[in-house]
Amino acid sequence: MLKNKEIVVGITGGIAAYKTAELVRAFTRKGANVHVVMTKNAMEFVTPLTFQTLSGNPVIHNSFELFTGSKIGHIALADVADQVVIVPATANIIGKIANGIADDFLTTMIMAITVPVLFVPSMNTKMWESTIVQRNIEKLKDNGYQFMEPGSGDLACGTSGKGRLPTIEEIVERMEDIFTEKDLMNERILVTAGPTMEFVDPVRCITNRSSGKMGYAIAKIAKRRGAEVTLITGKTYIESPHGDIQVIEVTTAVEMRDAVIDHYRRSTIIIKAAAVADFKCKAENCQKIKKQCNVDSMTLELEKNPDILEELGRIKENRILVGFAAETDNVLEHAVDKLKRKNLDLIVANNVAQEGIGFGSDNNEVSIIDKTGGVRHVPRLSKDEIAHVILDAVKKAMKKRKKKEEDWY
Ligand code: PMT
Repeated sequence: MLKNKEIVVGITGGIAAYKTAELVRAFTRKGANVHVVMTKNAMEFVTPLTFQTLSGNPVIHNSFELFTGSKIGHIALADVADQVVIVPATANIIGKIANGIADDFLTTMIMAITVPVLFVPSMNTKMWESTIVQRNIEKLKDNGYQFMEPGSGDLACGTSGKGRLPTIEEIVERMEDIFTEKDLMNERILVTAGPTMEFVDPVRCITNRSSGKMGYAIAKIAKRRGAEVTLITGKTYIESPHGDIQVIEVTTAVEMRDAVIDHYRRSTIIIKAAAVADFKCKAENCQKIKKQCNVDSMTLELEKNPDILEELGRIKENRILVGFAAETDNVLEHAVDKLKRKNLDLIVANNVAQEGIGFGSDNNEVSIIDKTGGVRHVPRLSKDEIAHVILDAVKKAMKKRKKKEEDWY
């Protein structure tokens, strides 16, 4: 989303200015071209050299300076920018812009800007809560400027409360959100993710290597594209996706099945990326199974878990149902079999024996198969990018179905 975007980062004079260095790095890592503008007060906290090094572009810090060999002035930069983020946004910069003051490069540029401007405030709690600051924020919001809420916790001034800069990940996520077209606005998407765990006894379990990354990426991107998202997840060690996503945690396959059945009716689209254990222990061992010193092996008797996807395939009505197929051989063949057997609209096949994709990794490489047998191979991409492609395929399937219904009448 941020690839090849021109992002202007306005840094103002607050202690959180030092965190902006990490933000600039995060933007450049995502392929954005970053232009840093610093106020005079910002330079009391951090130096332009840091940001010039990190962004690879000259840093603008002198009111109306034009750079030798660069055409970028306040109007030119305003024209070039795809998005502006002011971070940290102090009470001072909020007040100045809210009241039309344009007395340095940053404030003057903002007057000429037509693209989205995101303020990321960070300040002392009492300043944040002051009527004047809040009134200025309301005024700016009314004029289309966007704001992030500060976090709560220990503040640099030695107090504790609201006023902390949101995390770098949250700021990047919000910027990506602003750039993303809200094309799933009317959809309610149920996503499953992560592994299930089946207990052998109170201390041991049968599980698998799913990290939850694939399902979490789908939930995050679906939310970013405007959908209402419910995420049903097995136990994972990754951070829950940010933003307004309903997250339901489960442990076993039976718990996942019950949560899915409780929630599927509200959904228009269901995407099952979870790695569900096919079997669970037949006996419930309430005490830890003791090691028997005189035996070299032991047998666990397993019984079948419910197949959640298969059940959904029977009751889905006109919902779009997407399954995954984690295969190690004859990938397409097995995936097509699951697509048909479980009455799916789409299946996303991945070869989990391949290095660097599938379980636990940040990337995946998949084939998306539709019910007419059409196959789209998606080369190795980040799981966020794969999530976009899957959601595009879902949209295409919905469009096809709509056309079919229209042709019918
Ligand atoms: O979580 P990550 O580390 O990011 O890894 C991603 C992934 C490899 C887990 C993911 O890309 C993936 O392939 N998920 C499906 C894993 C799986 O269980 O595949 P399967 O071929 O065994 O199952 C087929 C489908 O039936 C899946 O949609 C699965 O959710 C569903 N299923 C399976 C068994 C069962 N009892 N109930 C089910 O609903």
